[in-house]
Amino acid sequence: MWEELENSIKDCTKCKLCEGRHNIVFGEGNKEADIMFIGEGPGADEDAQGLPFVGKAGQLMNKAFQGLGIKREEVYIANIVKCRPPNNRVPEDDEAEACLEYLRNQVMLVKPKIIVLLGSTALKNILGKEYGITSARGKWIEKKEIYYMPTWHPAALLRDEAKKIDFWKDLKEVVKKYNELNVK
Ligand code: URA
Repeated sequence: MWEELENSIKDCTKCKLCEGRHNIVFGEGNKEADIMFIGEGPGADEDAQGLPFVGKAGQLMNKAFQGLGIKREEVYIANIVKCRPPNNRVPEDDEAEACLEYLRNQVMLVKPKIIVLLGSTALKNILGKEYGITSARGKWIEKKEIYYMPTWHPAALLRDEAKKIDFWKDLKEVVKKYNELNVK
């Protein structure tokens, strides 16, 4: 199934983002992870390496992981769109829609218990346009036996130091929920 999915995306031309990409950023991590992180879309570093969250935002996320005892290789990390939007703009609705099928299949295969939604784009495309990141962040939303935790996108922490405290708090909740779910 994973092989099929990875093959199906290899030469994807379902939206215009294929025109500028160097690499498709499929996602990486533990394919049986209990925790999945979903970001927005690849930036320049990710596009160059074909891997998610390897640039500045990713380094900040890695630091938080380290501090909280989350092993990056034990979680699964993916994005709403798999190809870099030009100038890191927010993916447009048609692009997200075209790409979401891949992500839905990834979620189906990983079967995470917890999904961390990194920023507004992930939140709106996964849970619905009616959600806003400022009011939704830090609160659990349970849907179809998956616990969703919306939080700031790590890139937002680079622009606003104060958000680091929230981000840390939200990820701490994630660790707590993970521990609770795994002793049941
Ligand atoms: N920002 C994202 O949303 N995803 C990445 O993979 C990198 C930066």
